[in-house]
Amino acid sequence: MYDVFSLPAIRFPDDFLWGSATAGHQIEGDNIHSQAWHREQQPDFLRGDSEDEVRAPSGRACDHSRRYREDVALIAALGHRGYRMSIEWSRIEPRQGQWDDEALAHYLDLLERLAANDIRVFVTLHHFTHPLWFEQLGGFGKADNRRFFERYLAYLVPRISSLVSGWNVINEFNQWGGPMAGPAIASLKFTMLRVHALGYHLIKSHSTAPVSSAHAFVHWFPRRFHDCLDRRMTAYADFVTNEFFFHALRTGELVYPGVDAEYDPEVKGALDCWAVNYYTRHMVDARLAGLDGRRFRHKELRMIPMRFYLEEMYPEGLIANLERLADRPVYITENGCCCDDDRFRIVYLALHLSALREAMERGVDVRGYFHWSLLDNYEWTSFVPRFGLVAVDPQTFERTPKPSALFYREVIRENGFSGALVRRHLDGLPSLAENRP
Ligand code: BGC
Repeated sequence: MYDVFSLPAIRFPDDFLWGSATAGHQIEGDNIHSQAWHREQQPDFLRGDSEDEVRAPSGRACDHSRRYREDVALIAALGHRGYRMSIEWSRIEPRQGQWDDEALAHYLDLLERLAANDIRVFVTLHHFTHPLWFEQLGGFGKADNRRFFERYLAYLVPRISSLVSGWNVINEFNQWGGPMAGPAIASLKFTMLRVHALGYHLIKSHSTAPVSSAHAFVHWFPRRFHDCLDRRMTAYADFVTNEFFFHALRTGELVYPGVDAEYDPEVKGALDCWAVNYYTRHMVDARLAGLDGRRFRHKELRMIPMRFYLEEMYPEGLIANLERLADRPVYITENGCCCDDDRFRIVYLALHLSALREAMERGVDVRGYFHWSLLDNYEWTSFVPRFGLVAVDPQTFERTPKPSALFYREVIRENGFSGALVRRHLDGLPSLAENRP
């Protein structure tokens, strides 16, 4: 058990960047030209994988496209100094080769309002979604299609670069293909690295802000700790989803099981900082085809009243993982949990920030932290998991900051916290038992 009330007082460096993160499709609403929107209209998508799975299309999401002025004011009122957001390619280029001026003007207005509030913005150029036309041409699955992405970047980046403080070319580029083997997966991973590198070099010619791609840093862990098969598969999963990328970006060598290695000088050194999305550990079960037992999560969704679907909290994973990235500055571009009981989020936040501070003491140059997420948003298949610091009414879209948002605001104001602050924010909140439906 973690004793969160006994956490010693910690402080962060003066220029530490505190903020929150979102993604366009998950909050904007009516992202009708994207492949994700199209997929959500299909009957098999809505049926889901099992009977007890609850699915819904994104619809108006958080209605952020209309309410962005209010949201900028909210971000500022919560004390955030940084904000990670994504731009929807399918809004900028809804039809192949046709740029939508209004969409560009909208994003410029959003970026300018953030800047006017002294909020430093990190922009993600691809966060899981792209135009339907690009998907229909084969998406990133066809290596040659990266020229379309390049053209989008060449159009967009110079137009917004003066308002951007940090860049993520692709969100979680290391997740594509998951921990699987085979030449087709290897080729997809090689392509994603090269798409990232292409974005990196293009952005560098227009901007001095740091460029990276958010890395989904999964902490793989053997389900049966002393089982040699689980352990070997854990090392394997880590290699293909984590180390493959670190090694390639450091050396230019693309080394993947089952295919001949390649050397690509464009990939070598193609990042200024590590951008890390960290949630929890994943248990590796060598006896499951998919390795990772998370597929049971939807059952749990029904069974656990908290609707907490990440299996557990594992803040130590943040320390162990970040120590592998001590060669460059690090930004935590996502970290958070989904739960209905906001006490849990406060504890999660406190423990992960402590782990982060510990990693910094061990020599990792962490420069900023973006909590996932600002709002309860569309979680790719439904609105059930709630990751937000701020609740969003599904009918009226009214925003209500949760107690965790107030705790986080105080952490930012103090540039640190102690167990006593956690206690002060938890005291008086309803207990887990009282919170159950
Ligand atoms: C993604 C987010 C998602 C979050 C929680 C991350 O992997 O970047 O889009 O909402 O996880 O599942």
